[in-house]
Amino acid sequence: MKNMDLNNLLSQMTIDEKIGQLVQFVRAFYSDDKNGEITGPLNELNITEDVIWNSGSVLGSDNAEDMIEIQKRYLEKNRLKIPLLFMADVIHGFRTVFPIPLAIGCTWDMELAKKSAEIAAKEAALSGTNVTFSPMVDLVRDPRWGRVIETTGEDPYLNGLFATAFVQGYQGNMTDEYNIAACVKHFAGYGASEAGREYNTVDMSERNLRENYLPSYKAAVDAGVELVMTSFNTVNGIPSTGNSYLMRDILRKEWGFKGIVISDWAAVQELIPHGVAKDGKEAAKKAIEAGVDIEMMTSNYVNNLRELIEKEKIKMELLDEAALRILELKNKLGLFENPYRTANAQKAEEAYLCKEHREIAREVAYKSFVLLKNNNILPFSKEKNVAIIGPFAKNNRILGPWSVQGKEEEAVNFLEGIQNKIGREKVVTVEGGGINCEDKSNFAEAIEAAQKADVVILALGEDQDMSGEAGSRAYITLPGVQEELAKEIFKIGKPTAVVLFNGRPLEMTSWYKEAPAILEAWFPGSETGNALADVLFGDVNPSGRLTMSIPYTVGQIPVYYNCYNTGRPKNEGTEGNRFLSQYIDIPNEPLYHFGYGLSYTEYSYGDIDLNKTVMKYNEKITAKIKVKNIGKMAGIETVQLYIRDITASTVRPIKELKGFKKIYLEPNEEKQVTFEIGEDMLKFYNSECNYLSEKGKFEIMIGHDCKNVKGAEFELI
Ligand code: BGC
Repeated sequence: MKNMDLNNLLSQMTIDEKIGQLVQFVRAFYSDDKNGEITGPLNELNITEDVIWNSGSVLGSDNAEDMIEIQKRYLEKNRLKIPLLFMADVIHGFRTVFPIPLAIGCTWDMELAKKSAEIAAKEAALSGTNVTFSPMVDLVRDPRWGRVIETTGEDPYLNGLFATAFVQGYQGNMTDEYNIAACVKHFAGYGASEAGREYNTVDMSERNLRENYLPSYKAAVDAGVELVMTSFNTVNGIPSTGNSYLMRDILRKEWGFKGIVISDWAAVQELIPHGVAKDGKEAAKKAIEAGVDIEMMTSNYVNNLRELIEKEKIKMELLDEAALRILELKNKLGLFENPYRTANAQKAEEAYLCKEHREIAREVAYKSFVLLKNNNILPFSKEKNVAIIGPFAKNNRILGPWSVQGKEEEAVNFLEGIQNKIGREKVVTVEGGGINCEDKSNFAEAIEAAQKADVVILALGEDQDMSGEAGSRAYITLPGVQEELAKEIFKIGKPTAVVLFNGRPLEMTSWYKEAPAILEAWFPGSETGNALADVLFGDVNPSGRLTMSIPYTVGQIPVYYNCYNTGRPKNEGTEGNRFLSQYIDIPNEPLYHFGYGLSYTEYSYGDIDLNKTVMKYNEKITAKIKVKNIGKMAGIETVQLYIRDITASTVRPIKELKGFKKIYLEPNEEKQVTFEIGEDMLKFYNSECNYLSEKGKFEIMIGHDCKNVKGAEFELI
């Protein structure tokens, strides 16, 4: 902790200066040009330039020279010389871009996730960023929602582990010059927007909220995250940004959060269209009373808080405590001693995409790919002639929609990566008909190239703008004429691997059967081509596992592994019975389930060996299982532990992930994997929302994914 006497500072501040700390606008507001950029936005928000020189933080400046210049000018104008905080969206890397978070989720590798955040923090800190609006930890079950790209998936336990890893990576212990503050978002339940439509309503039981949606935010808070961002949606009738139950009761009282709460972009203002505030004054009152410290990008606080306080509509203490929290973060970051902190343009240039950062980006990428299907055609031999066909053959739009600072031209595209691996002369590309258009004019060329090649790679997908914020889609199939292109190519009968670039699970039901191999690549970032070549040509054995179900078709959504059994489950042996919880036209199961992912080798599992089958409350059970690599290539296996509470006072999911271990196995090597199961792992929220375990029988499942498991039972007494 740095030495500034903050209470003393606060006592010297005028009410307007305190309110200023709660205000955040984008970088354009700090522009020099009095007749240009700055006046437009100022007029629009009905604020004067004084507000800018009193504001507490700025959004979106992300290079060192810019930051230093803004800070310098600001400090010349700010009476008490309180430095600005610089915040930005550094979501999955800065200039070195890692795969999208949904892909990082598929690595199931917390050390690597943490390392990616550390690298992002270093590059960001050197560029003058103090706070990142990451991690986004919203649990997701609906791939129509474009923002599934930003999260690590559908499992509360796994999302919590990733939340912790990202926060630790960004923040370290908040004392190193390369640490930046993290902001977990979007609190709360944003991922449950009805029908996957962006910014839509969220309505769910308290039990569901606590059991599935809140744990990842809580994990970030427990890891010491400095900021929390509210979400745009309502939760059970109250918009999050005016929801004191969420922010005061749960976040601050129950979880003990001491940091800053920031609204999402214009979310205070949106209390008006939501229909819970009649004007800006009421919106400001509701937001600050509910616990929002910083209003992002609208001016309701700055235009109304003074009057609300003077007329005693809200208490001065509310303003004081919010302003103090912001000063505390500035102090913690050492901005009072050095307002430019780590910003250094030259060092930043040296760090961006340096060898070490690229190597890690490549490792994260190849570990995030999920091999969905392989009819023994992969890996390809490096001797073969390859045709890469499709809109991603040499496309550099592979960083993902939330890569704000990344530069497309700095990414290694697919073609370049394959050329690096097998040489230029053995590769041809034909781009097919584009991503989202009806043009089939070069199908003939594509077919000819496929006919001439030894092996074919179909590089297909969604444009990166088809996911991300405001990227909801109702049809989540491959856009344009890509499915048609794929079918034409499959007909030729060459060994063909489909490589998918996309920000969400796609529906592939109409073509997956004909595809000899499918590799889910997501948006892999700076090292896309190199990482793909590593896997496709067998230098790396794929090990990624899905953390979000790939639906059979949109009609099943939401489809997720940890669902309830229902009173009329469809099981083995119930075929022919109409009156079951099922569809009459499609399976209940997703096409590819949670935890799934193939490799170039195979693993066999022994039976589960429990050290006892009866467990008392203060005891632990040990479950052991032998896993053997029975194939010809070394690989990394992710051994997954699921538990089911067979009978309880409320219904329980048919399985819940409770642990996993990643093990490296040489061909023929066998390892014993051990899990310890304690009573705390059996807890859940009962109908009164008490978190507890109940006596009775439990099923343990250990295996390769949520479906392929070995089972055993024990009893809690
Ligand atoms: C997004 C946030 C983001 C913020 C600032 C909003 O539109 O919902 O995730 O951090 O903008 O850029």
